[in-house]
Amino acid sequence: MQQDTISTAASPAVFSHSPAAKTAAVEFRQVSKSFGPHEVIRNVDLRVDSGEVVAVCGPSGSGKSTLIRLINQLESVTRGEILINDQPAQNLKGAALRQLRTHIGFVFQQFNLYAHLTAEDNVSLALIKVHGWKKNVAREKARALLGRVGLGDKALHYPDELSGGQQQRVAIARALVTDPGIILFDEPTSALDPEMIGEVLLVMQELAKSGITMIVVTHEMSFAREIADRVIFMDGGEILEQAQPEDFFLRPQHPRAQRFLQKVLFPLHPQTGAGR
Ligand SMILES: Nc1ncnc2c1ncn2[C@@H]1O[C@H](COP(=O)(O)OP(=O)(O)OP(=O)(O)O)[C@@H](O)[C@H]1O
Ligand SMILES: [Mg+2]
Repeated sequence: MQQDTISTAASPAVFSHSPAAKTAAVEFRQVSKSFGPHEVIRNVDLRVDSGEVVAVCGPSGSGKSTLIRLINQLESVTRGEILINDQPAQNLKGAALRQLRTHIGFVFQQFNLYAHLTAEDNVSLALIKVHGWKKNVAREKARALLGRVGLGDKALHYPDELSGGQQQRVAIARALVTDPGIILFDEPTSALDPEMIGEVLLVMQELAKSGITMIVVTHEMSFAREIADRVIFMDGGEILEQAQPEDFFLRPQHPRAQRFLQKVLFPLHPQTGAGR
């Protein structure tokens, strides 16, 4: 990856998404990942277009988190190639890795906010520490983003003064602070009480309309069904099925996907095939 073609938070440019161009925001070419002898991602080919919203689902241990962690190099590829905006992007270090992560936001299941920082300081931290922004300018941007996720009045609150749903919305604002073209979510609603899931999904729905590329690992079938452009089903480190949501939910093709959906959609009737 060439440095002069990557945006920074200070100068968003070429690496930003462009709705008109159908570049591949993310492309996997025969990617495998092993932990020791254990191959957890196997020969994955995947193309996610710029602006596309993809839901990734599958049973526990199927490799969903590893798949998205490979994209922003929280894990390294064992074999194969990953391209970001059609440029090879792996084994990056130093400034190039920072620039990759500037372009790719990540939202974790457990929020991962700093407990000793206010919401606005959590959001603005990267701009100040990594990109050298002046504190007042960075905080102004943080407050604008907090407003965008419905937390304009919580900028000075600490994480333990916020509900789980509010903390996750702060984490989403933080992931957006560098104007990424791509945002990755790893089960963003799984740690939330049921009544807080909706407020986070609504923010994600707004984001999906903005043209950003989203890859979302989720058990939240309403997200996959109503917001995603495409659903990817994984098992055993492989992508077994990719389909538009309607096709995936009404006419899953792979027997493993059929069994998975049966269990997820009809947990009291895991065997009967009811509802298909
Ligand atoms: N750092 C690691 N070291 C060793 N093995 C790992 C590591 N991270 C993940 N694995 C293994 O890789 C496989 C895939 O894990 P991964 O976390 O990607 O699955 P997942 O689909 O996200 O599961 P879940 O739905 O439970 O989050 C699992 O067998 C897991 O134990
Ligand atoms: Mg996971």
